[in-house]
Amino acid sequence: MATPHASSAKGSTTRRRRRTGLRDPLAVRLLKADHREVERMFDEYEQLDDESEKLGLFDDIALALKVHTRLEEEILYPAERGEVEDDMLDEAYVEHDGAKKMIAEIEAMAPSDEFYDAKVKVLGEYVKHHVKEEEQPGGIFAQAKKGEEDLEAMGQRLKARKDELMRELGGGRVS
Ligand SMILES: [Fe+2]
Ligand SMILES: [Fe+2]
Repeated sequence: MATPHASSAKGSTTRRRRRTGLRDPLAVRLLKADHREVERMFDEYEQLDDESEKLGLFDDIALALKVHTRLEEEILYPAERGEVEDDMLDEAYVEHDGAKKMIAEIEAMAPSDEFYDAKVKVLGEYVKHHVKEEEQPGGIFAQAKKGEEDLEAMGQRLKARKDELMRELGGGRVS
């Protein structure tokens, strides 16, 4: 979650908050927190040399991405049909599918394989691009915030579903 230090480093967030005087509704806060967490993990991956550590961290990245994309596809995106531009939502689903294919390819490889690190790096760039499109002015989150959907109540649904999915896909692993 945002700290006083972090907010000063995020100029656009600070400006937006000052202008509206509102903080993001719960659904957006939770999804943005997932984004920051996965970005942090991709950055951490770059620092690793040990292959078993790479495998372990990629496992965490894959789980986080699988859970997050399911949350958006099951809850956010369908609820926002009609509120958010269709093209934008359609592209988001297609980008999720692209990420899932890359994850499956990497999961079928070993860290010692040629191109393993390159594939993780490209997946990270792909995900960061998608995240930027969700969060940018006029993007999915911004359009959702202007819509009718109750994003506080949605946040509660996201929380509950995330717990279930972490258990289901993570095999009892605690995130
Ligand atoms: Fe997404
Ligand atoms: Fe997202």
